[in-house]
Amino acid sequence: MNKTITIELSTNKKPKPKASELGFGKYYTDHMFIMDYDAATGWYNPRVVPYQPISLDPAAKVFHYGQTIFEGLKAYLTDDGKIRLFRPEQNMARLNRSNARLSIPAVDEELAIEALKQLILTDSDWIPSDAETSLYVRPFVIATEAQLGVNASTQYMFMIIMSPVGSYYAEGIHPVKIHVESHYVRAVRGGVGNAKTAGNYAASLKAQEEAYAHGASQVLWLDGVHRKYIEEVGSMNVFFNIDGTVVTPALNGSILDGITRDSIIRLLKHMNVPVEERQLSIDEVVTAHQEGRLVEAFGTGTAAVISPIGELTWEGTRYVINGGNTGELSQKLYDTLTGIQRGTVEDSFGWSVV
Ligand code: COI
Repeated sequence: MNKTITIELSTNKKPKPKASELGFGKYYTDHMFIMDYDAATGWYNPRVVPYQPISLDPAAKVFHYGQTIFEGLKAYLTDDGKIRLFRPEQNMARLNRSNARLSIPAVDEELAIEALKQLILTDSDWIPSDAETSLYVRPFVIATEAQLGVNASTQYMFMIIMSPVGSYYAEGIHPVKIHVESHYVRAVRGGVGNAKTAGNYAASLKAQEEAYAHGASQVLWLDGVHRKYIEEVGSMNVFFNIDGTVVTPALNGSILDGITRDSIIRLLKHMNVPVEERQLSIDEVVTAHQEGRLVEAFGTGTAAVISPIGELTWEGTRYVINGGNTGELSQKLYDTLTGIQRGTVEDSFGWSVV
Protein backbone atom coordinates (compact mmCIF):
# COMPACT_ATOMS: atom_id res chain seq x y z
CA MET A 1 0.00 0.00 0.00
CA ASN A 2 0.98 3.65 -0.35
CA LYS A 3 2.05 4.63 3.17
CA THR A 4 2.21 8.35 2.51
CA ILE A 5 -0.10 10.18 4.86
CA THR A 6 -1.77 13.15 3.16
CA ILE A 7 -2.76 16.17 5.23
CA GLU A 8 -5.71 18.44 4.53
CA LEU A 9 -5.72 21.39 6.92
CA SER A 10 -8.85 22.84 8.48
CA THR A 11 -9.78 26.37 7.46
CA ASN A 12 -12.29 26.64 10.27
CA LYS A 13 -10.41 26.30 13.56
CA LYS A 14 -12.43 25.90 16.72
CA PRO A 15 -11.98 27.96 19.90
CA LYS A 16 -10.07 26.08 22.59
CA PRO A 17 -11.62 25.39 25.97
CA LYS A 18 -10.06 26.69 29.21
CA ALA A 19 -8.12 24.14 31.28
CA SER A 20 -10.77 24.35 34.02
CA GLU A 21 -13.53 23.33 31.58
CA LEU A 22 -11.84 20.25 30.13
CA GLY A 23 -13.26 17.27 32.03
CA PHE A 24 -12.84 14.06 30.03
CA GLY A 25 -13.69 13.69 26.34
CA LYS A 26 -15.89 16.77 25.93
CA TYR A 27 -13.92 18.64 23.26
CA TYR A 28 -12.26 17.46 20.04
CA THR A 29 -9.34 18.95 18.14
CA ASP A 30 -9.43 20.44 14.64
CA HIS A 31 -8.25 17.32 12.76
CA MET A 32 -8.64 13.55 12.70
CA PHE A 33 -6.96 10.64 10.95
CA ILE A 34 -8.77 8.20 8.65
CA MET A 35 -7.66 5.14 6.70
CA ASP A 36 -9.99 2.85 4.77
CA TYR A 37 -9.97 -0.88 4.17
CA ASP A 38 -11.60 -3.17 1.73
CA ALA A 39 -10.87 -6.81 1.21
CA ALA A 40 -9.66 -6.31 -2.38
CA THR A 41 -7.25 -3.42 -1.66
CA GLY A 42 -6.25 -3.85 1.99
CA TRP A 43 -5.74 -0.64 4.01
CA TYR A 44 -5.52 2.45 1.82
CA ASN A 45 -5.66 6.25 1.73
CA PRO A 46 -4.16 7.20 5.10
CA ARG A 47 -5.04 10.86 5.66
CA VAL A 48 -5.29 13.66 8.20
CA VAL A 49 -8.44 15.68 7.52
CA PRO A 50 -10.47 18.37 9.30
CA TYR A 51 -12.49 16.92 12.22
CA GLN A 52 -15.98 16.29 10.86
CA PRO A 53 -18.93 13.91 11.07
CA ILE A 54 -18.67 10.75 8.98
CA SER A 55 -21.42 9.29 6.86
CA LEU A 56 -22.19 5.56 7.14
CA ASP A 57 -24.84 3.30 5.71
CA PRO A 58 -27.39 2.41 8.44
CA ALA A 59 -26.67 -1.26 7.65
CA ALA A 60 -22.96 -0.87 8.53
CA LYS A 61 -22.03 -3.92 10.60
CA VAL A 62 -20.61 -1.89 13.46
CA PHE A 63 -24.11 -0.65 14.33
CA HIS A 64 -25.60 -4.12 14.49
CA TYR A 65 -22.94 -6.57 15.58
CA GLY A 66 -20.45 -4.35 17.37
CA GLN A 67 -17.45 -5.28 15.22
CA THR A 68 -15.21 -2.51 16.50
CA ILE A 69 -12.19 -1.99 18.74
CA PHE A 70 -10.46 1.03 20.24
CA GLU A 71 -7.37 2.23 22.05
CA GLY A 72 -6.60 5.12 24.38
CA LEU A 73 -3.33 6.91 25.06
CA LYS A 74 -2.16 10.36 26.02
CA ALA A 75 0.20 13.04 24.69
CA TYR A 76 1.77 15.49 27.12
CA LEU A 77 3.22 18.93 26.51
CA THR A 78 6.19 19.25 28.82
CA ASP A 79 7.77 22.36 30.36
CA ASP A 80 10.59 22.26 27.80
CA GLY A 81 8.02 22.52 24.97
CA LYS A 82 8.41 18.87 23.93
CA ILE A 83 5.52 16.55 23.16
CA ARG A 84 5.70 13.17 24.84
CA LEU A 85 3.79 9.96 24.20
CA PHE A 86 3.74 7.05 26.63
CA ARG A 87 4.53 3.58 25.23
CA PRO A 88 2.52 4.14 22.00
CA GLU A 89 3.89 0.94 20.46
CA GLN A 90 2.13 -0.98 23.24
CA ASN A 91 -1.20 0.57 22.29
CA MET A 92 -0.76 -0.30 18.64
CA ALA A 93 0.29 -3.87 19.48
CA ARG A 94 -2.82 -4.25 21.65
CA LEU A 95 -4.94 -2.66 18.92
CA ASN A 96 -3.92 -5.51 16.65
CA ARG A 97 -4.54 -8.13 19.36
CA SER A 98 -8.05 -6.70 19.73
CA ASN A 99 -8.40 -6.64 15.93
CA ALA A 100 -7.45 -10.31 15.76
CA ARG A 101 -10.08 -11.25 18.38
CA LEU A 102 -12.81 -9.29 16.55
CA SER A 103 -11.85 -10.70 13.10
CA ILE A 104 -10.71 -7.25 11.95
CA PRO A 105 -7.66 -7.12 9.63
CA ALA A 106 -4.41 -6.00 11.27
CA VAL A 107 -3.24 -2.42 10.87
CA ASP A 108 0.42 -1.64 10.05
CA GLU A 109 1.63 -0.67 13.55
CA GLU A 110 4.45 1.56 12.33
CA LEU A 111 2.08 3.42 10.04
CA ALA A 112 -0.43 3.77 12.88
CA ILE A 113 2.25 5.33 15.11
CA GLU A 114 3.32 7.63 12.28
CA ALA A 115 -0.35 8.63 11.81
CA LEU A 116 -0.57 9.35 15.52
CA LYS A 117 2.50 11.57 15.37
CA GLN A 118 1.35 13.43 12.24
CA LEU A 119 -2.06 14.08 13.74
CA ILE A 120 -0.63 15.26 17.07
CA LEU A 121 1.85 17.56 15.30
CA THR A 122 -0.99 18.97 13.17
CA ASP A 123 -3.02 19.76 16.31
CA SER A 124 -0.11 20.41 18.68
CA ASP A 125 -1.69 23.74 19.73
CA TRP A 126 -4.48 21.66 21.32
CA ILE A 127 -2.25 19.93 23.88
CA PRO A 128 -3.00 21.54 27.23
CA SER A 129 -0.03 22.17 29.51
CA ASP A 130 -1.63 22.73 32.93
CA ALA A 131 -1.02 20.16 35.69
CA GLU A 132 -3.25 17.05 35.36
CA THR A 133 -4.14 17.85 31.73
CA SER A 134 -3.12 16.06 28.54
CA LEU A 135 -4.31 15.28 25.04
CA TYR A 136 -6.25 12.00 25.06
CA VAL A 137 -5.82 10.11 21.79
CA ARG A 138 -8.48 7.63 20.71
CA PRO A 139 -7.59 5.29 17.80
CA PHE A 140 -10.44 2.97 16.75
CA VAL A 141 -11.61 0.68 13.98
CA ILE A 142 -15.21 0.21 12.82
CA ALA A 143 -16.74 -2.33 10.44
CA THR A 144 -18.44 -0.33 7.68
CA GLU A 145 -19.76 -2.90 5.22
CA ALA A 146 -23.52 -2.44 4.70
CA GLN A 147 -24.59 -6.05 4.98
CA LEU A 148 -26.64 -7.65 7.74
CA GLY A 149 -25.25 -11.17 7.60
CA VAL A 150 -23.41 -12.16 10.76
CA ASN A 151 -19.90 -12.49 9.36
CA ALA A 152 -16.75 -10.37 9.35
CA SER A 153 -17.04 -7.13 7.42
CA THR A 154 -15.11 -6.73 4.19
CA GLN A 155 -14.79 -2.97 4.76
CA TYR A 156 -13.45 -0.94 7.71
CA MET A 157 -12.34 2.49 8.76
CA PHE A 158 -9.40 3.09 11.10
CA MET A 159 -9.65 6.52 12.68
CA ILE A 160 -7.89 8.57 15.33
CA ILE A 161 -9.58 11.42 17.17
CA MET A 162 -8.13 13.51 19.99
CA SER A 163 -9.54 15.34 22.98
CA PRO A 164 -7.83 17.72 25.43
CA VAL A 165 -8.63 16.33 28.89
CA GLY A 166 -8.36 17.04 32.60
CA SER A 167 -9.03 14.39 35.26
CA TYR A 168 -11.20 11.41 34.29
CA TYR A 169 -13.01 11.35 37.61
CA ALA A 170 -14.30 14.63 39.03
CA GLU A 171 -12.53 13.46 42.21
CA GLY A 172 -9.12 13.55 40.41
CA ILE A 173 -6.61 11.43 42.34
CA HIS A 174 -8.92 11.37 45.38
CA PRO A 175 -10.27 8.00 46.54
CA VAL A 176 -13.54 6.69 45.12
CA LYS A 177 -16.25 4.47 46.56
CA ILE A 178 -16.63 1.10 44.89
CA HIS A 179 -19.57 -1.30 44.93
CA VAL A 180 -18.56 -4.97 44.66
CA GLU A 181 -20.79 -6.32 41.89
CA SER A 182 -22.34 -9.69 42.65
CA HIS A 183 -25.02 -9.91 39.94
CA TYR A 184 -23.64 -8.62 36.63
CA VAL A 185 -20.33 -9.76 35.16
CA ARG A 186 -18.04 -7.87 32.81
CA ALA A 187 -16.57 -10.74 30.81
CA VAL A 188 -15.81 -14.43 30.85
CA ARG A 189 -12.77 -16.37 29.74
CA GLY A 190 -13.02 -17.19 26.05
CA GLY A 191 -15.17 -14.10 25.48
CA VAL A 192 -13.86 -10.65 24.54
CA GLY A 193 -12.89 -9.32 27.98
CA ASN A 194 -9.23 -9.11 27.00
CA ALA A 195 -9.99 -7.14 23.82
CA LYS A 196 -10.65 -3.42 23.93
CA THR A 197 -14.01 -3.60 22.24
CA ALA A 198 -17.19 -1.56 22.62
CA GLY A 199 -19.41 -4.39 23.88
CA ASN A 200 -17.41 -4.76 27.11
CA TYR A 201 -18.10 -1.14 27.93
CA ALA A 202 -21.77 -1.28 26.90
CA ALA A 203 -22.20 -4.35 29.11
CA SER A 204 -20.74 -2.47 32.09
CA LEU A 205 -23.18 0.46 32.03
CA LYS A 206 -26.06 -1.17 33.89
CA ALA A 207 -23.84 -2.17 36.81
CA GLN A 208 -22.31 1.29 36.86
CA GLU A 209 -25.77 2.87 37.07
CA GLU A 210 -26.65 0.61 39.96
CA ALA A 211 -23.34 1.46 41.64
CA TYR A 212 -24.28 5.15 41.39
CA ALA A 213 -27.63 4.36 42.97
CA HIS A 214 -25.70 2.78 45.87
CA GLY A 215 -23.65 5.97 46.24
CA ALA A 216 -20.54 4.45 44.63
CA SER A 217 -18.57 5.71 41.59
CA GLN A 218 -17.80 2.32 40.09
CA VAL A 219 -18.05 -1.43 40.52
CA LEU A 220 -15.50 -4.08 41.39
CA TRP A 221 -16.00 -6.92 38.92
CA LEU A 222 -15.88 -10.53 40.05
CA ASP A 223 -15.31 -13.47 37.71
CA GLY A 224 -18.29 -14.82 35.82
CA VAL A 225 -17.95 -18.47 36.85
CA HIS A 226 -17.36 -18.53 40.62
CA ARG A 227 -18.47 -14.91 41.34
CA LYS A 228 -15.58 -14.93 43.73
CA TYR A 229 -12.33 -13.85 42.10
CA ILE A 230 -11.57 -10.18 41.47
CA GLU A 231 -11.15 -9.13 37.84
CA GLU A 232 -11.22 -5.34 37.28
CA VAL A 233 -12.58 -2.15 38.80
CA GLY A 234 -14.87 -0.15 36.48
CA SER A 235 -12.87 0.09 33.24
CA MET A 236 -9.54 -0.21 35.04
CA ASN A 237 -7.20 -2.92 36.32
CA VAL A 238 -7.07 -3.24 40.08
CA PHE A 239 -4.29 -3.57 42.69
CA PHE A 240 -4.39 -4.31 46.44
CA ASN A 241 -1.58 -3.57 48.87
CA ILE A 242 -1.85 -6.40 51.42
CA ASP A 243 0.74 -6.05 54.14
CA GLY A 244 3.25 -4.45 51.78
CA THR A 245 2.81 -7.00 48.98
CA VAL A 246 0.96 -5.61 45.99
CA VAL A 247 -1.43 -8.12 44.44
CA THR A 248 -3.22 -7.77 41.10
CA PRO A 249 -5.38 -10.37 39.34
CA ALA A 250 -3.35 -12.42 36.85
CA LEU A 251 -4.29 -12.02 33.18
CA ASN A 252 -6.62 -14.93 32.65
CA GLY A 253 -8.31 -14.18 29.32
CA SER A 254 -11.18 -12.11 30.68
CA ILE A 255 -9.07 -9.23 32.01
CA LEU A 256 -7.75 -6.42 29.80
CA ASP A 257 -3.94 -6.27 29.75
CA GLY A 258 -3.65 -2.62 30.68
CA ILE A 259 -0.54 -0.72 29.66
CA THR A 260 -0.73 1.24 32.92
CA ARG A 261 -1.13 -2.13 34.72
CA ASP A 262 2.05 -3.42 33.12
CA SER A 263 3.90 -0.16 33.85
CA ILE A 264 2.88 -0.25 37.54
CA ILE A 265 4.04 -3.87 37.90
CA ARG A 266 7.41 -2.97 36.37
CA LEU A 267 7.71 0.15 38.52
CA LEU A 268 6.97 -1.83 41.69
CA LYS A 269 9.62 -4.41 40.78
CA HIS A 270 12.08 -1.59 40.09
CA MET A 271 11.24 -0.13 43.53
CA ASN A 272 11.80 -3.57 45.13
CA VAL A 273 8.17 -3.71 46.29
CA PRO A 274 6.91 -7.32 46.24
CA VAL A 275 4.26 -7.69 43.54
CA GLU A 276 2.15 -10.73 42.71
CA GLU A 277 -0.03 -11.41 39.67
CA ARG A 278 -2.36 -14.16 40.82
CA GLN A 279 -5.92 -15.19 41.49
CA LEU A 280 -7.32 -13.03 44.30
CA SER A 281 -10.73 -13.60 45.86
CA ILE A 282 -13.00 -10.97 47.39
CA ASP A 283 -12.94 -13.11 50.57
CA GLU A 284 -9.17 -12.74 50.78
CA VAL A 285 -9.48 -8.96 50.45
CA VAL A 286 -12.24 -8.78 53.08
CA THR A 287 -10.25 -11.00 55.48
CA ALA A 288 -7.16 -8.84 54.96
CA HIS A 289 -9.29 -5.78 55.75
CA GLN A 290 -10.70 -7.38 58.91
CA GLU A 291 -7.21 -8.27 60.07
CA GLY A 292 -5.93 -4.76 59.39
CA ARG A 293 -3.64 -5.95 56.57
CA LEU A 294 -5.37 -4.22 53.64
CA VAL A 295 -3.16 -1.15 53.40
CA GLU A 296 -4.46 0.36 50.15
CA ALA A 297 -6.24 -0.42 46.91
CA PHE A 298 -6.28 1.37 43.57
CA GLY A 299 -7.34 1.10 39.96
CA THR A 300 -4.99 1.75 37.03
CA GLY A 301 -5.80 2.93 33.52
CA THR A 302 -4.71 5.40 30.88
CA ALA A 303 -7.53 7.83 31.53
CA ALA A 304 -7.19 8.21 35.32
CA VAL A 305 -3.65 6.72 35.67
CA ILE A 306 -4.18 5.75 39.36
CA SER A 307 -7.55 5.89 41.04
CA PRO A 308 -7.38 5.09 44.77
CA ILE A 309 -10.23 3.06 46.28
CA GLY A 310 -11.39 4.69 49.52
CA GLU A 311 -14.19 2.29 50.28
CA LEU A 312 -15.58 -1.06 49.14
CA THR A 313 -19.17 -2.17 49.73
CA TRP A 314 -19.74 -5.92 49.62
CA GLU A 315 -22.92 -7.74 50.64
CA GLY A 316 -24.17 -4.74 52.59
CA THR A 317 -20.96 -4.10 54.55
CA ARG A 318 -18.72 -1.05 54.02
CA TYR A 319 -14.98 -1.54 54.17
CA VAL A 320 -13.16 1.78 54.44
CA ILE A 321 -9.59 1.50 53.15
CA ASN A 322 -6.77 3.59 54.60
CA GLY A 323 -9.29 5.85 56.35
CA GLY A 324 -10.69 6.76 52.94
CA ASN A 325 -7.43 8.51 52.05
CA THR A 326 -4.98 8.11 49.17
CA GLY A 327 -2.33 5.58 50.24
CA GLU A 328 1.36 6.43 50.37
CA LEU A 329 2.30 3.90 47.70
CA SER A 330 -0.62 4.93 45.42
CA GLN A 331 0.54 8.53 45.59
CA LYS A 332 4.16 7.57 44.97
CA LEU A 333 3.23 5.43 41.96
CA TYR A 334 1.02 8.21 40.58
CA ASP A 335 3.78 10.81 41.00
CA THR A 336 6.44 8.55 39.47
CA LEU A 337 4.37 7.40 36.50
CA THR A 338 2.96 10.83 35.64
CA GLY A 339 6.51 12.22 36.16
CA ILE A 340 7.88 9.75 33.59
CA GLN A 341 4.98 10.57 31.25
CA ARG A 342 5.66 14.31 31.53
CA GLY A 343 9.45 13.99 31.45
CA THR A 344 10.06 15.31 34.99
CA VAL A 345 11.12 11.95 36.45
CA GLU A 346 14.00 9.95 34.97
CA ASP A 347 12.65 7.30 32.63
CA SER A 348 14.92 4.31 33.15
CA PHE A 349 12.51 2.14 31.15
CA GLY A 350 12.57 4.08 27.87
CA TRP A 351 8.77 4.41 27.93
CA SER A 352 8.40 8.08 27.10
CA VAL A 353 8.60 8.88 23.39
CA VAL A 354 9.45 12.47 22.40
C1 COI B 1 -8.83 3.83 30.71
O1 COI B 1 -8.70 3.69 31.93
O2 COI B 1 -8.03 4.44 30.04
C2 COI B 1 -10.00 3.29 30.08
O3 COI B 1 -9.96 2.28 29.46
C3 COI B 1 -11.21 4.07 30.23
C4 COI B 1 -11.59 4.64 28.92
C5 COI B 1 -12.51 3.70 28.22
C6 COI B 1 -12.20 5.99 29.10
